[in-house]
Amino acid sequence: MAQEDVFKKIVSHCKEYGFVFPSSEIYDGLGAVYDYGQMGVELKNNIKKYWWDSMILLHENVVGIDSAIFMHPTIWKASGHVDAFNDPLIDNKDSKKRYRADVLIEDYLAKIDEKINKEVEKAAKKFGDSFDEAMFRETNPRVKEQQAKRNEVHTRFAKALNDSNLEELRQIIIDCEIVDPISGTRNWTDVRQFNLMFATEMGSTADGAMKVYLRPETAQGIFVNFLNVQKTGRMKIPFGIAQIGKAFRNEIVARQFIFRMREFEQMEMQFFVRPGEELDYFRQWKEIRMKWHKSLGFGDHKYRFHDHDKLAHYANAATDIEFEMPFGFKEVEGIHSRTDFDLGSHEKYSGKKMQYFDPELNKSYTPYVVETSIGVDRMFLSTIAASYCEETLENGESRVVLKLPAPLAPIKLAVLPLVKKDGLPEKAREIIDALKFDFKCQYDEKDSIGKRYRRQDAIGTPYCVTVDHQSLEDNTVTIRYRDTMEQERVSINDLQGIIAEKVNMKKLLTSIS
Ligand code: GAP
Repeated sequence: MAQEDVFKKIVSHCKEYGFVFPSSEIYDGLGAVYDYGQMGVELKNNIKKYWWDSMILLHENVVGIDSAIFMHPTIWKASGHVDAFNDPLIDNKDSKKRYRADVLIEDYLAKIDEKINKEVEKAAKKFGDSFDEAMFRETNPRVKEQQAKRNEVHTRFAKALNDSNLEELRQIIIDCEIVDPISGTRNWTDVRQFNLMFATEMGSTADGAMKVYLRPETAQGIFVNFLNVQKTGRMKIPFGIAQIGKAFRNEIVARQFIFRMREFEQMEMQFFVRPGEELDYFRQWKEIRMKWHKSLGFGDHKYRFHDHDKLAHYANAATDIEFEMPFGFKEVEGIHSRTDFDLGSHEKYSGKKMQYFDPELNKSYTPYVVETSIGVDRMFLSTIAASYCEETLENGESRVVLKLPAPLAPIKLAVLPLVKKDGLPEKAREIIDALKFDFKCQYDEKDSIGKRYRRQDAIGTPYCVTVDHQSLEDNTVTIRYRDTMEQERVSINDLQGIIAEKVNMKKLLTSIS
C-alpha cells in the first residue's frame, strides 16, 4: 500500500477509535488544532509519563517544574522571539493564498529528488542484480542534469536563508517557475517576514492593557526560574530542569495532521553545565535520548540523527532525532547546545544576576545549557504510525491492530464475559474490581467474542480476558495476547502478575537506566 494511503488510514483510524478529533468539528474545524479523545488522552498521558519518569526518576540531578503559559513580554524580547521567530511568506495575487516561501522551494527540490529516484528505480528494475546505482547516478545524462539543477537551487536557497535575503528567495521562486498549486499562476508578491507568536492582551484597556504572548516554547519558563530552582532545591551544577506543557505557534503551512499544529505540547529539559563542558553533555544527552526512543521497540532503523548545518546564533551544536513517518524521515526531537545565550540575555534585559556560584571552582559564572526538546504530539503520531498494522488472518479475515508498546496502551486489559447471563458478567466485574487499581481495564459484553477482540485490537489493548462457564467452577479464564492472538488458560489469581510484568513502565525504564 502506498505510504500516502497508510497515512490517510491512520488519520481516520485515530478519529474512528477516539484517539484524535479535529477541533471544533461541528463548526467545520479549526486549522491545525486537534482534540485528543478518550483513547488519545490515555496514550498521550502514558507517553508523557514515560518521558517524565525517565528524566525525574532516572536522573537524581533533574527536577521538574510547571511554569505559566503567560510570561512577561520582555522575556520574548530577550529570547529573540519578538525579532527573529519568523517565517518568510509569499502571496499569490490570483488565488489570494499565502505560502511559506521556503516550503515552496523545498517542495520544488523534493520533486526533483522524486524524478531522480524514479529514474534510478526504473533502471534498477531493468538491470536487476547487475545494477550499480552509484555509477548510474554519475553517468546517466538525465539524472546528471536533474542533480546539477538541484544542487544549484539548493546552494542558492541555503545562502538566501542564511543571509535572510527575502528578495533572493522570491527570485528563486521566479527562476524555478514555481506556480501556485491553486491558481496555477506565477503572479507572486514580495516575500515578507511573519512572526509566529500569538499575541493577546492582559488587563483592561482602561488600565492600559499589556500585550502578552502565548509561549512558543516552554524552555523560557525554565530559564527564568533557573535561580529559583537552583537555590530552593540546593542544586549543584550540572543539573537539569524538566517541564511538560503547551506551546503555540501561528504556523502558516500547517499540515500532516498532528505533525505541525498551532497549539501543541512540548517536553523540554534544560541541563545547566559549566562553560566548556557543554559539548560533552550534548553528546551524552544525544545518546540518552536516542536510547529512550529505541527502547519502544519500533525498530532501530526508523531513527536517525540529523545534525544542523546552519546553527542558530545562540547554539554551538544542534541535532534532530528524526523518525520515519509515513511521509518520510521527520524531526521528532531537537537536542541543542544553547551556550549561555538565554541566561545571559535574561540577565541583560532584567538587570538581575543569572549566575551560579560554583563552590568547587570558587567562582561565579553564567552556566551553559544543553536542551532536549520533544513534541508530545509528534511522539504520539510516530507511536501510532509505527504501531498500526493491517493483517490477513489464517481464516482469510483481516484485522487492524495497534501494536502499541504495552506500557503505553490506553487500555491494558479487557474483560469479556462469554455470554451476558449465568453469572458470567458478575464474575467479569469481580476481576475488574480486583485489578482496576493497577491497570486501566475495560468491560465489554456486546457482540460476538470475535468482534470484541477486533475492537480491542484496534485500540491496542495488549490483553483480553474471557470469562466462561469453567471460570465459575475452577476460577480460571482464558487470556488472549494481542500480537500473537494466542490464548492460554490461567488462574484468575495469576492475572495481576502476568499483566504487570509486561505493562508496567518499570520494564521500559529499567531497559534504559
Ligand atoms: N526549545 C526548543 C524548541 O522549541 P523546536 O525545534 O522549535 O525547538 C522542539 O521544537 C520540538 O517541538 C520539535 O522537535 C517538535 O517535536 C515540536 N514542535 C515544534 N513545532 C511544532 C508544531 N507546530 N506542531 C507540533 N510539534 C511541534
